[in-house]
Amino acid sequence: MAVPIVLDPLLSPDEAATVVGLWHDFPGYGLYSNEGFATEFAPELAQRYDATVNFIRTGGRFGRTGEDTSMLAARTNYFRETYAYGDDVSAPGIERFFHHPRLFDGARALHGRDVVVPAIVYANILLPGQELAVHTDVPEFRGANRKVVPQWLLVVMHHAGLFGEWRMPIATAISYFGEGRGGELAYYPDGPDGPAATYAPRHNTAVVLDTDSVFHGVDRVLGDDAPLAGLRPGMRLHHDGERSWTVRDGERIVATYATDDLRYSVSWKAYCFADDAERAAWAAHTDDLSLEQILERLVADLCERGRLAGQDHGLADAELGRLLIDEYVRFPAPAAT
Ligand SMILES: [Fe+2]
Repeated sequence: MAVPIVLDPLLSPDEAATVVGLWHDFPGYGLYSNEGFATEFAPELAQRYDATVNFIRTGGRFGRTGEDTSMLAARTNYFRETYAYGDDVSAPGIERFFHHPRLFDGARALHGRDVVVPAIVYANILLPGQELAVHTDVPEFRGANRKVVPQWLLVVMHHAGLFGEWRMPIATAISYFGEGRGGELAYYPDGPDGPAATYAPRHNTAVVLDTDSVFHGVDRVLGDDAPLAGLRPGMRLHHDGERSWTVRDGERIVATYATDDLRYSVSWKAYCFADDAERAAWAAHTDDLSLEQILERLVADLCERGRLAGQDHGLADAELGRLLIDEYVRFPAPAAT
């Protein structure tokens, strides 16, 4: 069973106040759907084709089918900005959080690996009525990351269990600040066949877990969801001062929220190496996977499973992609409501 580690409290009151200050002072938040790298393999499949298709097919954790797909898209298209990525800091003041000993200790406790290298800190903001489809996060392998391999294919690689020796175990801490209502973290500690457990966010706490392996999502944030119908790609969320926020389409104001309406979390991810030699192999690229190696191995496994006749299968890339997702990524079934 994958038990998450809860850090409560996460930071000192002053440190938590600093993060809340950064949240408000950051010069605006864009929609997550605008992110992502243009990867070459099967570009017709969206980066998280796996999770999106499952969400639309099932209606999410509670099987809420019946809404039209544009509303479903608005529910799951939340705001995200990166505060720090490696040495690149875009929210000055976040450094203390990025290198916080509490997070390092949580990561070590999760994976039992001593060499922790923080990779990224980003903020997620969900509006009332928004939720996050059940998914596993995008894992990383030596030589295979989201800049060169589609995100859904990285997810497939981990679920297939064929690339463990190249995998970089990552610890994720999801930390919460503010007073948003609802938006519980739902996760599947016993795997996709077991029941979901939930964690109700509280200010200045964090949950540390292996989000690359454990299916998880975010339940709906409470509050008035009517403005979601007007949410469109390209809009931005902006703090206007006095804990008042607007969603804007260019200069046009589409919706207004108070700070306490918003579900705000800051995700921290760190590579967890067993020892310095493993870290050195990663840094020096001495044992990297290539896309050709990845596809060859997956296709060979599909052949063994009787899903394909041979390496010369003749499938278009996107067809092969759908087959891979279907074969390896087994989502939890929606709960009975
Ligand atoms: Fe996630």
